Amino acid sequence: MISEEENKHLMEVGPGSLMGELMRRYWQPIGAVAELEDNPVKKVRLMGEDLVMYKDKSGTYGLVDLHCPHRRADMSYGILEECGLRCNYHGWLFDETGACTEQPFEEVAYPDAHFKDKTPIKAYGLQAKAGMLWAYMGPQPAPLIPDYDVFSEEGYKQIIFTEIPCNWFQCQENSIDPVHLEWLHGRWSYHLTNGATREPKAHIKVGFGEFDLGLSYHRVSEGGNEEDEQWTVGRVCLWPNALYTGHFEWRVPIDDGNTLSVAWFNNPVPGDAPFEQKRIPYWTSPLVDEDTGRWIDTHIMNQDYIAWVGQNALADRTQEHLGGSDGGIILMRRRMLEEARIVADGGEPKAVIRNEAENQQLYLPKQGRNRTGPAFGETADGKAPRNIHLAKQPKEVLDEMDKIWVERAAAAKA
Ligand code: FES
Ligand SMILES: [Fe+2]
Repeated sequence: MISEEENKHLMEVGPGSLMGELMRRYWQPIGAVAELEDNPVKKVRLMGEDLVMYKDKSGTYGLVDLHCPHRRADMSYGILEECGLRCNYHGWLFDETGACTEQPFEEVAYPDAHFKDKTPIKAYGLQAKAGMLWAYMGPQPAPLIPDYDVFSEEGYKQIIFTEIPCNWFQCQENSIDPVHLEWLHGRWSYHLTNGATREPKAHIKVGFGEFDLGLSYHRVSEGGNEEDEQWTVGRVCLWPNALYTGHFEWRVPIDDGNTLSVAWFNNPVPGDAPFEQKRIPYWTSPLVDEDTGRWIDTHIMNQDYIAWVGQNALADRTQEHLGGSDGGIILMRRRMLEEARIVADGGEPKAVIRNEAENQQLYLPKQGRNRTGPAFGETADGKAPRNIHLAKQPKEVLDEMDKIWVERAAAAKA
């Protein structure tokens, strides 16, 4: 049984908190590269800190305090310069390292005071990878953003955001919970559609494991056995806050009571001709159906959101009754607290990658990886696959995908 204190530790993400300090040791995806191409300055809240991310005119990314160190004006209304972001109130200019590089009045009137050297702005790391923008808020030197092998697979990629009004850790616990797949997704969908979806198979056995990059869960379903990939490969839950099942789902802490869900999908396109995607689109999937006012329950991740938020913004784990299916939950909580204590004691936690040579195409286990059969990417109707995970994919994204699928399938046949 978890204590009230441990429950609190698991959920706190602010600076100086036990888990907040652990989470600050890892790069977190917080936006899309295409987002700052559309709007180069954006206000963001991350792990309880209000910040501004930007891309300056020379193309350098920055992530700085929302408030100017002079008299606290809102930097998200700042002026983008060749090198950095200038506060609109009195014109102080800051670069991506946080250095104040210009201070118009002070430099003219008091050139010998060098006041700007004393007024840096809080600044964190912001880097692009796999179409996403990643933030690093921990101590220097910063580690590397993991180079998961899937990032460089060819295909049509897209990034989907949803803001979820609950703590990130209950979202991540879901990544190590095999039985919810049978009920929340399988059985509930079957019920909601009056039997139009496939009936799920019951779980017979579950198991859990740990590897360098995270944890894993394994299942045997009715009619299956331990030779199946469901057991031999299982599914992986990436350290510290993602699920990977062929696509990624990061649960990024906005603050204690809110989480940014960042999903990254890559759909292999039909045909063998090289494929290059010029721009990885991003969109926001809503929680609530505007027509009915009810939470959307038609898509897999939307169903997850209903379960997570249903546990309350801050889940009270002291009131739970964990059973045999919850071995992974117990393992994850224990390992998180252990790693957080390693950080508190000045050590290096799990899955921090610093060696460039080792950070190459990190292998992620996935069921069906070695399967052969019909060419990857082909669909029965020749159009692009529909997104079954998140509701309200914008029409322009789907239209672009359909066009690519139809054209490439035709070219492959010609
Ligand atoms: S408040 Fe930003 S320059 Fe004065
Ligand atoms: Fe789920």
